[in-house]
Amino acid sequence: MRTYLTPLRKIRLMCGIVGYVSKASVDNADHSALDVVLSGLKRLEYRGYDSAGVALVTAGGELETAKKAGKLSALTDELAEHPLPAAQTGIGHTRWATHGGPTDANAHPHLADGGKLAVIHNGIIENFAHLKADLVAEGVEFLSQTDTEVAAAQLAKNFQTTGDLTEAMRVTATQLEGAFTLLAVHADAPGTVVAARRNSPLVIGLGEGENFLGSDVAAFIDYTRTAVEIGQDEVVTITPDAVVITDIEGNEVQGTQYEVNWDTAAAEKGGFASFMDKEIHDQPQAVADTLLGRMDTDGKLALDEMHIDETVLKTIDKIVVIACGTAAYAGQVARYAIEHWCRVPVEVELAHEFRYRDPVVNEKTLVVAISQSGETMDTIMAVRHARQQGAKVIAICNTYGSTIPRESDAALYTHAGPEIAVASTKAFLSQVVACYLLGLYLAQLRGNKFRDEIAAILTELQAIPAKVQRVLDEDKEQVLALARRNQDVDSVLFLGRHVGFPVAMEGALKLKELAYIHAEGFAAGELKHGPIALIDDGQLVIIVVPSKRGRDSLHAKVISNIQEVRARGANTVVIAEEGDEEVREFASEVIYVPETTTLMAPLLTTVPLQIFAMELATAKGLDVDQPRNLAKSVTVE
Ligand code: M6R
Repeated sequence: MRTYLTPLRKIRLMCGIVGYVSKASVDNADHSALDVVLSGLKRLEYRGYDSAGVALVTAGGELETAKKAGKLSALTDELAEHPLPAAQTGIGHTRWATHGGPTDANAHPHLADGGKLAVIHNGIIENFAHLKADLVAEGVEFLSQTDTEVAAAQLAKNFQTTGDLTEAMRVTATQLEGAFTLLAVHADAPGTVVAARRNSPLVIGLGEGENFLGSDVAAFIDYTRTAVEIGQDEVVTITPDAVVITDIEGNEVQGTQYEVNWDTAAAEKGGFASFMDKEIHDQPQAVADTLLGRMDTDGKLALDEMHIDETVLKTIDKIVVIACGTAAYAGQVARYAIEHWCRVPVEVELAHEFRYRDPVVNEKTLVVAISQSGETMDTIMAVRHARQQGAKVIAICNTYGSTIPRESDAALYTHAGPEIAVASTKAFLSQVVACYLLGLYLAQLRGNKFRDEIAAILTELQAIPAKVQRVLDEDKEQVLALARRNQDVDSVLFLGRHVGFPVAMEGALKLKELAYIHAEGFAAGELKHGPIALIDDGQLVIIVVPSKRGRDSLHAKVISNIQEVRARGANTVVIAEEGDEEVREFASEVIYVPETTTLMAPLLTTVPLQIFAMELATAKGLDVDQPRNLAKSVTVE
């Protein structure tokens, strides 16, 4: 039996969901279900764009659907060619693939009950394989690889027993494990959309003679600004004149009503000023989602995606991480952990340098290719080269079905959701977490760590989302003010040791790409070998200080490095662990992050650096989501 790592109460996986009902007759409808659903999907497309689909129920009780792999425009082209009949009841979905590739067949909605029931879904149903086996034994046939189609079949089965769509949804919700928002319409129930949510978002929009459902308010903000929150494990039924929310036992509950005062652009960004700001705040969820469902009840890691033979993994004698930019810094952080846990040498190489170096890789090498997009050409070429040399390649990727995981021997997906801002934030944290899961899995397999040791590390990992949230809640204002005060600096140096070194480089990269100013990340110990000549009066130096409880003398050494630069006039800003009073004396300002272990610290110390770069660029009037000269996915060598 599986148990699941759900460190936060609310797990938010991606995909955009819209539901709509109105009482206007088809003839005088000013809001047709198709128009409303498509406009909602357009606003939610930032949540996923692997496929899109709609289901409508006509007044005459016909269920009509259309779905297409690719962006929403592929669906609208299809609808222009093959229009659907007018209807006032509809649901729509834009997908971020998790189970099953981004194909037409796997696009939502999924049908059941002889094509009379349509279901859309956001989330991951953990026990879908078990449910599917039972349904197959009962003669149900499946057309897709999705967990959603299993939920649809289960709902159809419960509808046949209960004869009531709301009741059937309630029963289904009790039978599903994991994270889900489900929306369903049935040909026999025109004018009704039924939904359920657990660990995945859903909000109601209230209208006059019409009601809405959406993954977030952006879905219906063009039509109404009155919204109602839906609690955990609640079922909601919307009809044109009523919204009924019940708990899992069927007791009616009141949702919390509120007015949305964001403009439409802000709604897509969840009310944040930029996608980058939103994605920085997504990080507790991105970490939690990446941990979701990867451990069994015995505390053992179970990486179902690991399609590389265990005997191969047991005999590898080297790990080579290939990646670019931020993804490479995630690999550099992971190197400290994997070498420490697995006692296997780990090299981290920029993907564009890798194959030109004629690297020594062979059947005993495990290559880990890290990429948010899965489409970075430098990394693709490095993956191909590694496989030609006989190495096994595992991709750590955020984009289901992209080239790098497809061309690798196995893929471990980060579940950060789409990252829209060009500067990577939540992908970095989830890449580090995925690498840590891989490292612990190898340590478990190869017997490098005892079970209780792995469990203790996983417990600390589980605590990270809440700690990242604390950094956001408690440090953000201080870091924003720091950035605003420094908006005119023309150079910032970042220092760190051990895992703090790649964090320093990532902090510098963020500042370079967003604020267009000179920034360098140095290993603090390297300073005296040259870079210290850069220090002049007032030079801003940001130092990542390791925990006093970490590796012997590391803390003291970094304190010495701070003193060295301070003595030469540097303005020293320190990122340190709560309770570290010693650093105060040497810093013009200290930003404290919660206590954690040495290896987990990068998951916290990176966050203030992201906020600093974002705000400094904003203060300079720059576009933080789309910095000059850059592309989100670099598909050329
Ligand atoms: O999609 P990938 O993770 O392969 O992209 C790698 C780099 O291009 C990317 O991390 C880049 O460095 C970002 N702009 C950093 O914020």
